[in-house]
Amino acid sequence: MTHHEYDVVIVGAGGAGMRAALESSQRARTAVLTKLYPTRSHTGAAQGGMAAALANVEDDSAEWHVFDTIKGGDYLVDQDAAEILCNEAIDAVLDLEKMGLPFNRTPEGKVDQRRFGGHTRNHGEAAVRRACYSADRTGHMILQTLYQQCIKQEVEFFNEYYVLDLILDGDPQAAAPGEEVAVAGVVALELSTGEIHTFNAKAVIFATGGAGKVFKTTSNAHTLTGDGMGIALNAGLPLEDMEFFQFHPTGLAGLGILLSEAARGEGGILRNSEGERFMERYAPTIKDLAPRDMVARAMANEVREGRGAGPHQDYVLLDLTHLEPAHIDEKLPDITEFARTYLGVEPYTEPVPVYPTAHYAMGGIPTTVQGEVLRNNTDVVKGLYAAGECACVSVHGANRLGTNSLLDINVFGRRAGIAAAEYASGVDAAPAFPEDGDARIRALVDGLLATVGGTGTERVSEIRKALQETMDRNVQVFRDADSLAEATRVVAELKERFTDVAIHDRGKRFNTDLLEAIELGFLLEIAEVVVAGALAREESRGGHYREDFPTRDDERFLHHTMAYATGEGVRLDTKPVVITKYQPMERKY
Ligand code: FUM
Repeated sequence: MTHHEYDVVIVGAGGAGMRAALESSQRARTAVLTKLYPTRSHTGAAQGGMAAALANVEDDSAEWHVFDTIKGGDYLVDQDAAEILCNEAIDAVLDLEKMGLPFNRTPEGKVDQRRFGGHTRNHGEAAVRRACYSADRTGHMILQTLYQQCIKQEVEFFNEYYVLDLILDGDPQAAAPGEEVAVAGVVALELSTGEIHTFNAKAVIFATGGAGKVFKTTSNAHTLTGDGMGIALNAGLPLEDMEFFQFHPTGLAGLGILLSEAARGEGGILRNSEGERFMERYAPTIKDLAPRDMVARAMANEVREGRGAGPHQDYVLLDLTHLEPAHIDEKLPDITEFARTYLGVEPYTEPVPVYPTAHYAMGGIPTTVQGEVLRNNTDVVKGLYAAGECACVSVHGANRLGTNSLLDINVFGRRAGIAAAEYASGVDAAPAFPEDGDARIRALVDGLLATVGGTGTERVSEIRKALQETMDRNVQVFRDADSLAEATRVVAELKERFTDVAIHDRGKRFNTDLLEAIELGFLLEIAEVVVAGALAREESRGGHYREDFPTRDDERFLHHTMAYATGEGVRLDTKPVVITKYQPMERKY
């Protein structure tokens, strides 16, 4: 075992982690630990843009952006956080521009902007051009730009170090209100050697991304297994609002690969098997550019009511055929290539089959607006921070607007980096790292390796497949008590089977068999929390639609869900929503 000491340790090297690292490493000795080589992080898969009310191409204001974010989130957004997000958006874009990010430009040379779902002029009048973009590779460009800056700044990376445990000084569930609980560090598995490393740190930032792999049909990469969220849960910390999972309307049908909303921002139209532009019925004002929860539900409804296209009538069509090929090539080069490569469809002349795909966790590790992690509704864990998709600040509420996530990682990644480094500079030393701090992970790894050729009878791939299938079937765009009860039963059964899992690779180096088994453990824990929250929330709000409770119920449910793991399963609590200016209203588009 190797031991390391740093002021700040950042876990994850996607957009949020690297944006934090740029700030933290200027102020404190910082290490970035990442399961993946940084430029393989999932930020690179984000496509259509990053929202900021620059008003470069038409009238816009940060205030309208705040309102859209709150309304888009079905009034579950913490409004103080949304104000920060939207007010700091403009500088966040300008910072990236100064770092060299190749944004598309207007003829006058300003950063160009395009339309995106739910972003409107003057509180809903019409869609507004607010998304700053780099063709349909905006996330890729952000990731490359931040990585280049990190290299320039000599940020210390530990690539392919898979963090598995968080070490706290104090028990977050047993500590009395106001009692101090502080971070002491993390434990990581070096994937290339199988060696366990311990990192003692004054501050730790989690920026580990999402958990889309709980679903089968997802836009998420294989690596998005909710590791950071699972680690927090295992350490006795809550997860907030996990029942709110976003289904992006336009996944390539049958595959789930993301086809950016930018396609509709550039004029693409959704049609059913009758050729009807059906969004006119669901959202008469902004039609195809309604927020994602509404569009995804409308699509699923068209299919349910028999107006789906294709041999099995199980998808709808994204029509770009009225757009100039040159326009498509300039603005949407990657996604149109995806349609050609994976479905054999030519978007110049043929509509593209699409269906909702699991895309984004609105919930996550609860934080303050400085990124400090909460251990209950009010107390923070000293020195512990989180940002990006693994965190819940909560700027997305019950439904995130497209392009607000690239914004979130930049605004709150930066804030967490500054706050963590300042905190670390203000304390003399990190809490002592316990002698047996790596014991839990050693037992986990040894336990899994002991099954090699031994007694375990269950296979990782089979349990994961069963989990993803039940989540796709029962915890989808539409849910109800029966489907959620079935998911609860299956997840519990799979958790039990997981205790008897066998892995077949005896090696220490790049043991992906072991890696996948550990990831599956996190997926099962996250799924349990998602389902428990969804079952308890007997209303429909944003991405969580209960067919048995089809309306929003502010009287009973205008609150966040806080989920804690206990020996006896998930314990649910509530947390008030921060409302500053905008009282909940009916959500119409
Ligand atoms: O559709 C997209 O380009 C995805 C963007 C986002 O999730 O923010």
